[in-house]
Amino acid sequence: MNDKELVAHQALQYVSENMIVGLGTGSTANYFIDALAKRNKEEKLNVRAVSSSVVSMIKAKEAGLPLLAMEQIKEIDLYVDGADEITSDLTLLKGRGYDLVREKLLARSAKKFIVIADESKIVKNIGDNFPIPSEVHPFAWDLIKNVLIKKGTGDIRINAAKDGYAITSCGNFVLDFNYTEKDAEKLNAFLSQTPGIVEHGIFYNLAHGALISNNGKIREIWKT
Ligand code: 5RP
Repeated sequence: MNDKELVAHQALQYVSENMIVGLGTGSTANYFIDALAKRNKEEKLNVRAVSSSVVSMIKAKEAGLPLLAMEQIKEIDLYVDGADEITSDLTLLKGRGYDLVREKLLARSAKKFIVIADESKIVKNIGDNFPIPSEVHPFAWDLIKNVLIKKGTGDIRINAAKDGYAITSCGNFVLDFNYTEKDAEKLNAFLSQTPGIVEHGIFYNLAHGALISNNGKIREIWKT
């Protein structure tokens, strides 16, 4: 079992009968989806899942997990997802994918949000390894870029084929920026208060715990 798979399996211990479980997006979250589907079937747990992206929805469907639409939930019992960066106070950077809005909605509505990742995701400051993504209304991207450029450097995200702009599952563009400000609390407030930004990649004060694996060993970080 590799490190990502290991923490995904460890997260299963927080699942119990009749729970509504939010499914994250990414390679680590995929291991959790497979493991959850297997356990749900074998132990007849009656778990229902809500996905954070079309990709995780397809993955869950293929694995045989019963799914609820976002519109059908008011809150969820557990959300398990990966992250691109994690600090010691459990601030996260997410959004290398294209589903920031759904991911943050699930994180906010979860009674318990557990991050699963390998040690490579641990950073001192958010933004150390990746630019911070902001999902923006398409008509406003240049206006918002003009605001963000005063605080750092960055540009609109280009799609994988490199022949146009990347479009999120909500139909928005993404601005990836490196900021001179390193304080995640201040950056979170700034980005949250900037009109036209639909959602951004800093998950501040949302995660309750993290399961971190390193060469086959797991350590846990919990919010105090
Ligand atoms: C997607 C995310 C993912 O959780 C993050 O990119 C981690 O991916 P992986 O588990 O493949 O390393 O935030 O928006």
